[in-house]
Amino acid sequence: MSQRFSTDILIIGGGAAGLTCALQLAAHARITVLCKGDITSGSSHWAQGGIAAVTASEDSFADHVRDTLEAGAGLCDENIVNLTVENAPAAIARLSEWGVSFDQEDNEYHLTREGGHSQRRVLHVADATGRAVTQTLTTRVLDHPNIELINDRLAIDLINLSKLGRFPSRCAGAYVLNRTTGHVEVFQAKFVVLATGGASKVYLYTSNPDSSTGDGIAMAWRAGCRVANMEFNQFHPTCLYHPHAGSYLVSEALRGEGGVLKLPNGQRFLDSFHEQAELAPRDVVARAIDYEMKRIGADCVYLDISHRPQEFILSHFPNIAKHCATFGIDITQEAIPVVPAAHYTCGGVLVDRHGRTDLPGLYAIGEVSYTGLHGANRLASNSLLECLVFAGTAADKIRSQLDRPLDLPNLPHWDESQVTDSDESVVIAHNWDELRRFMWDYVGIVRTNKRLARAVHRIDLLKQEIQEYYAHYRITDDLIELRNLVNVAELIVRSALKRKESRGLHYNLDYPELLPQAQDTIMFPGSIDQLDMLKPSG
Ligand code: FAD
Ligand code: SIN
Repeated sequence: MSQRFSTDILIIGGGAAGLTCALQLAAHARITVLCKGDITSGSSHWAQGGIAAVTASEDSFADHVRDTLEAGAGLCDENIVNLTVENAPAAIARLSEWGVSFDQEDNEYHLTREGGHSQRRVLHVADATGRAVTQTLTTRVLDHPNIELINDRLAIDLINLSKLGRFPSRCAGAYVLNRTTGHVEVFQAKFVVLATGGASKVYLYTSNPDSSTGDGIAMAWRAGCRVANMEFNQFHPTCLYHPHAGSYLVSEALRGEGGVLKLPNGQRFLDSFHEQAELAPRDVVARAIDYEMKRIGADCVYLDISHRPQEFILSHFPNIAKHCATFGIDITQEAIPVVPAAHYTCGGVLVDRHGRTDLPGLYAIGEVSYTGLHGANRLASNSLLECLVFAGTAADKIRSQLDRPLDLPNLPHWDESQVTDSDESVVIAHNWDELRRFMWDYVGIVRTNKRLARAVHRIDLLKQEIQEYYAHYRITDDLIELRNLVNVAELIVRSALKRKESRGLHYNLDYPELLPQAQDTIMFPGSIDQLDMLKPSG
């Protein structure tokens, strides 16, 4: 029989969004934060460039708003952009108060520049901003008596009371795999906050850590929430290209500080694609690299900052320099081989300004959500900012409802009586590889109708296999994540098929033009066959 736990607020995900939300609620309620790995499992820990916020006298909210809207290619929600930009300085002040020491120069924040920003605006802690932020937040969380942070717990599905035959609809908790014991536990809560990050692992090459399997998007979708704009997948132009490097990002801040991109013959090429050359928005730079690599048949292009003084490079990019050195690349002397890789999921669970989803009691914050801030393309360093700001607005809304009486029934246990251990785990590994490879080949930086149709066909086959496997065999983390990845892949492909134009990050050779009217792609629950939800014992 599965163990049952009860808490006031269950936060699924311990990155910048989840931890910030926990800290902002901890004075008012008992919080449980679940993390499928440890502190390093989310993207937040690996963030390099920094956090965008208006702090310089020559900058303005209007400029930050305009840059965000321009990157978003007509799909940003202007109210949400204003809200985010205006709350950014306070979010930075709070982080500083909690202990994050952003780099300073002459007693002022040192601000770096990234693509699409008209001003130097990005606060950072050298080239490891995410590590500084998550370490500070984690220390605070661990010190707080009202917050319990539990690692190695993988949420499987949300519990929507109406799917258990009890009305009205409400999210009342989640089924969670304890990765240490292998058993499924039931977490019951008055409010559930999804802070599970993005889904870039759906692509073969990604800058993201292994946790980015779109679990929150898939869980919310299966629980009956709308999901928006999933076709907008951001590819970061510069990830280290080396056979043993795995996925490693080389920050856009390198280009902000003068780094240039070159073809293998040493020639610069970006100025013929965009007037801002290396500092053009990310979609433009990634597509230009993809185009040139295909045109000349190159495996990679090169990012060169070696013309800047050695001392400058080593003080601004100590971690990138150290990491590259382990592969024999001295970035102060030579160019870095780089390729684009999947980096950020712009779409997600549709929420309002308080992070509220369609399901009462369920909130979504951070990369898992679609607030309207990023539209069709995210401006660099606006993501950590979104995590901080919407952790706050969600916390405010939850806090205002904590005193309301809520009568939650005991949730059913997880039923494992009908399943056995699999004797064919190879199917899972194979399907993981197949899915990520065809998503890269057919649903990547440049798409066509034919490639998207091929992807749909393969997704249909995978869905059947995974569903059958899920119904008959005991679950494992790989199976849970694969099931989520296939859900997310389908949302991406079907959203891409719905968009009959090229806009922002979505580029389809069959529709290269921009339509005059910008419209969100909203996927409604029930519009695609969903994989079965729960295995409760009733
Ligand atoms: P994450 O930080 O990804 O955290 C997700 C959490 O959810 C993790 O704790 C994970 O274990 C947990 N989780 C996931 N699924 C489950 C589940 N089923 N059950 C339980 N727990 C689960 N953005 C910027 O603004 N500036 C930058 O400089 C920047 N640099 C980046 C560099 C890299 C290499 C990467 C990958 C991203 C970068 N980004 C940057 C993007 C930014 O880091 C992320 O968008 C942001 O950190 C997302 O935060 P989050 O809290 O939403 O999710
Ligand atoms: C980077 O440092 O290049 C990543 C910044 C971001 O994704 O916002």
